[in-house]
Amino acid sequence: MDTAHCSEQIVERLRAASRIAILTGAGLSAESGIPTFRDAMSGLWSKYAPSQLATPQAFARDPALVSRWYDERRAAAALCEPNAGHAALARLQRWALSAGKEFTLITQNVDGLHQRAGSANVLELHGSLRVWRCLACGTEVKPPAAPFSSYPPICACGGRLRPGIVWFGEALPPDAITRAEAAAEACDFFASLGTSAVVYPAAGLISKALTGRAAVMEINPEPTDFSAAATWSLREKTGEMLPVLVELVERA
Ligand code: OAD
Repeated sequence: MDTAHCSEQIVERLRAASRIAILTGAGLSAESGIPTFRDAMSGLWSKYAPSQLATPQAFARDPALVSRWYDERRAAAALCEPNAGHAALARLQRWALSAGKEFTLITQNVDGLHQRAGSANVLELHGSLRVWRCLACGTEVKPPAAPFSSYPPICACGGRLRPGIVWFGEALPPDAITRAEAAAEACDFFASLGTSAVVYPAAGLISKALTGRAAVMEINPEPTDFSAAATWSLREKTGEMLPVLVELVERA
């Protein structure tokens, strides 16, 4: 089925939906210049070993290296701007809420670009680089715009600060995953956008939507394990496709 025909169907289903749930991944921010994790050439995990950087054990072993790596990613993300895909999702949320629909935006991204584009109540399944937490006293700290001056950064109490993201082997924020699962189960329209859908429990949200009564749209230049089961799997970039769809929804 061609993209134009799919778009008509998608717009129709979005308008008829009463509960919309959206899951985003690193591909959504790729057009803002933020590297993904698993793209063969540019993905972060093609250059770095997750076990050396993205686990509590890695931080315990080398807190300076790990905190510097995340702080550099934070500083780089702060210099990037939300792209047309982020902006379209913020518009979609405003449209949905003004039409009396439930709208849940769930992201695996830790860059804060959805919020900067105007999305509200974002469920950050993997936490955020914009909040750091003291390992000793638990205080949450909003880092300065500039990179920290030393690594690992130190809290006023003398404890080490760690990035407020979820590392491999750690639990997801309970409130975010509970609300995300409820939204995926109850929705009648679900979108999986810019994610390779290989990291669980986030990818499990797609299964939940597929086993419920939702129409499922995927947008990704590459196929995923869920492409065949999705109602529509569009080989497109989110920064190009989402503005077109949202414009059609708003106009219809
Ligand atoms: P991945 O890097 O695994 O996947 C990014 C996906 O985005 C790929 O399937 C690309 O094909 C797709 N993509 C690239 N450019 C795109 C574009 N312009 N428009 C749409 N799609 C595009 O990133 P995630 O699926 O987000 O977790 O990875 C999930 C988790 O794995 C991350 O949150 C991170 C990582 O390890 C933690 O750090 C806990």
